[in-house]
Amino acid sequence: MNVKQKETMKRGEFLRSLSLGTSTLMAIYCLGSVTSCSTGDMDPISSTPTTPTTPGSTTGLTGNATTSAGAINFTVDLTNATYAKLKTAGSFAIIGDLIVAYSTASAYVALSKVCTHEGTTVQYRSGENDIYCANHGSEFTLTGTVDKGPAVAALKAYKAVISADGNTLTVTA
Ligand code: FES
Repeated sequence: MNVKQKETMKRGEFLRSLSLGTSTLMAIYCLGSVTSCSTGDMDPISSTPTTPTTPGSTTGLTGNATTSAGAINFTVDLTNATYAKLKTAGSFAIIGDLIVAYSTASAYVALSKVCTHEGTTVQYRSGENDIYCANHGSEFTLTGTVDKGPAVAALKAYKAVISADGNTLTVTA
């Protein structure tokens, strides 16, 4: 193998050229991925810098959306690609521990995403304009009250306020 061939050889080709078994190759690949990920800044395959994922303008979400981290208090940037769908009536998104929906009646609602029956993540149904749990069929109104069991307890409701320009949704306890 000449020098030019070595320089253009990809990692997989190089490892195969060492005549290692499949399990050994997988271990090397996995170890390489874990090591690269733990450094946080490099893509394990291309070794190019990746975009940071700190909350803020890049994610469209700021504040706290998980109940385990204290009081719910977050804002959603609806101009961010991740959440832009929430500008369309009849859509919803799971954000942290909540389900946030823009109802077909053009109202924003935010509720606990955890079904009070056995904890399955609920969804918004635009056709019925309600919250539904696909696990056992419980239905909730947009204020969180039970419309149909087996769930018997309401979903916790949060305040969802849209900004005057329609671009920022603020959710608080
Ligand atoms: S977990 Fe939701 S209805 Fe059973």
